[in-house]
Amino acid sequence: PNKYIIAPSILSADFARLGEEVQNVLAAGADVIHFDVMDNHYVPNLTIGPMVCKALRDHGITAPIDVHLMVSPVDSLITEFIKAGASHITFHPEASNHVDRSLQLIKDGGCKAGLVFNPATSLDAAKYVLDKLDIILLMSVNPGFGGQAFIPKMLEKAKEARKLIDEAGIDCRLMMDGGVKVDNIRECAEAGVDMFVAGSAIFKAPRTQDAYCTTINAMRA
Ligand code: DX5
Ligand code: ZN
Repeated sequence: PNKYIIAPSILSADFARLGEEVQNVLAAGADVIHFDVMDNHYVPNLTIGPMVCKALRDHGITAPIDVHLMVSPVDSLITEFIKAGASHITFHPEASNHVDRSLQLIKDGGCKAGLVFNPATSLDAAKYVLDKLDIILLMSVNPGFGGQAFIPKMLEKAKEARKLIDEAGIDCRLMMDGGVKVDNIRECAEAGVDMFVAGSAIFKAPRTQDAYCTTINAMRA
């Protein structure tokens, strides 16, 4: 496995050609597909659900699908995404009434589990569930939309999260999501991030496998 995981967010893909876009970005070297689920309740936008995840599986996509739930409540969709072929499921702690139970539900379904922290949210909710976390996801924008600017203060938070993970000695990825680009990914890595979501930085014109490959290679450089 790669030391650094690149997870393109299909939020910025061409939804009219989603299967092809996912195949192209994987052929271009992506490790994981980041799948943003928005419910127009927890966040002010509406995207895709379990049916689309299942459709990608039925289309022959075997790469890990990293489901980022921006929904409230979370448990019923966790169950549906497990059935739909998700590999990782992350949710925002304030969106669940029972964070430990929701994490356990994900793990019982055979998926990797993670918590997502909004820019202004402290890491406290991770403290008593560290042994259940495979992923800590830090939002470096306010969730809801692709193409927003990276919030630099999140580099400090990444260092704090890295310390938490290392001191606990757990096997947990530290992921950054929002405004990650070729020109700021190194700073994120230096702050301890080892899994990177990038939407608009990867999925842009000319939307070809070669172009995706060029961006992903530049991110790894
Ligand atoms: C935002 C989503 C992100 C988004 C990132 O709510 O969680 O995954 O797609 O897009 P960029 O990389 O364009 O900021
Ligand atoms: Zn996301």
